[in-house]
Amino acid sequence: ALRREVNEVLAPLRLSRADLEKVQALMREEMERGLGKETNATASVRMLPTYVSHTPDGTERGDFLALDLGGTNFRVLVVRVTEEGITMASEIYVIPVSIMQGTGEALFDHIIDCIIDFQTKQNLVTDMLPLGFTFSFPCQQMGLDKALLLTWTKGFSASGCVGQDVVQLLRDAARRMQVVALVNDTVGTMMACGYDDPKCEIGLIVGTGTNACYMEEMRNMGTVEGDQGRMCINMEWGAFGDNGCLDHLFTHFDQVVDQSTINPGKQRFEKLISGMYLGEIVRQILMAMTEKHLLFQGKLSSKLQTKNIFQTKFLSTIELSNGLALRQIQAILNELEIEASFEDSVLLREVCQTVSLRAAQLCAAGLAAVVEKMRENQGLEQLSVTVGVDGTLYKLHPCFSTNLQNTLKDLAPNCNVSFMPSEDGSGKGAALVAAVASRAANAME
Ligand code: BG6
Ligand code: GLC
Repeated sequence: ALRREVNEVLAPLRLSRADLEKVQALMREEMERGLGKETNATASVRMLPTYVSHTPDGTERGDFLALDLGGTNFRVLVVRVTEEGITMASEIYVIPVSIMQGTGEALFDHIIDCIIDFQTKQNLVTDMLPLGFTFSFPCQQMGLDKALLLTWTKGFSASGCVGQDVVQLLRDAARRMQVVALVNDTVGTMMACGYDDPKCEIGLIVGTGTNACYMEEMRNMGTVEGDQGRMCINMEWGAFGDNGCLDHLFTHFDQVVDQSTINPGKQRFEKLISGMYLGEIVRQILMAMTEKHLLFQGKLSSKLQTKNIFQTKFLSTIELSNGLALRQIQAILNELEIEASFEDSVLLREVCQTVSLRAAQLCAAGLAAVVEKMRENQGLEQLSVTVGVDGTLYKLHPCFSTNLQNTLKDLAPNCNVSFMPSEDGSGKGAALVAAVASRAANAME
């Protein structure tokens, strides 16, 4: 009887093959709409042009500063690209929530303070290096160095930035700053991995947020002039479903989590997949199960009722504990002031597995739409492509990547997809784009 009740709670989170095929087909539809001139405005997947038209070819050279803003860590880097390869040094800085959600001015002043601190530490003060900016938010780009912020996502909401050119905001904060290129983190990741593997033509992030980019044919893009060659598209797939097309998938738990965020109704696909939200979904399920007396003898600790107390990294630890060695689960539960039986620990693990499996499967359905489109673009029977990946959830979770890859194989059998985790983040990719941009600028002088 208990089993039946547990299954009733978890059933809406379990997706069938048909569900996933439908998500794949819907993603494909939204991609086409996003690429179309007339339909773009109503598409939930924005398919933003990036003005990056090539993956690295190894001829990029120079010394660059790079910024990496929008993931778990804010990083400042110096990147040296030579014939022998790439070397870099970096420093992590904290952006307090009060600054993430304060004024735009304070945010950009803080960024400049960090850059100055970094330059001092690295003895770079006299140099004025060209800068590549990884900015992991949706931007309408008019060129490599002009990018209007469309909306904040994840935990950011700094005022006075939406609608503004982010490159200009950085230049205004420090006039000496020579910003030459802005890239999304997906693009930075694709470029960083593309430096080592020429087959890398897709970038994927599964971290605080989720998103993907890929190389699209210009002839398929109604939103940019010209038909020749290719351009990288920042899909902004986190917003997939914001127009209601995924409503059939959202469970009661997903609704509650969405409503408790700073951007309810937005980034609906992201809220089913990424690290910022999975822990919260699990917590909602645990509370519901406790109320039904399926867990913890029906006793809800006040800690478990605290928003965001159940971190996504707990899912990784919990799903890693196997067999009888459930001690680590106990440690987490102790931290949450919950007394749990062995059966409770086993059920808790099942909840985590259900939520993370769904996330990986949905991500795979999105990716299947991308690789299938690339295969059709190139008129190939079989496509061979590499995905550059970054993000703490992808890198730290014990089963996410395997679940993602298995589901992708199943949904896109004619595509042979390899995954390449990015070694040192997307700052390297921003520097490679900056190298191309400054070469082009110098050639024009
Ligand atoms: C980092 C990249 O390694 O991964 C960032 O350098 C990116 O650009 C980040 O935003 C994504 O992962 P997370 O988990 O930090 O959001
Ligand atoms: C959010 C952002 C997107 C970014 C992703 C991963 O979805 O809108 O630009 O790529 O998070 O960091």
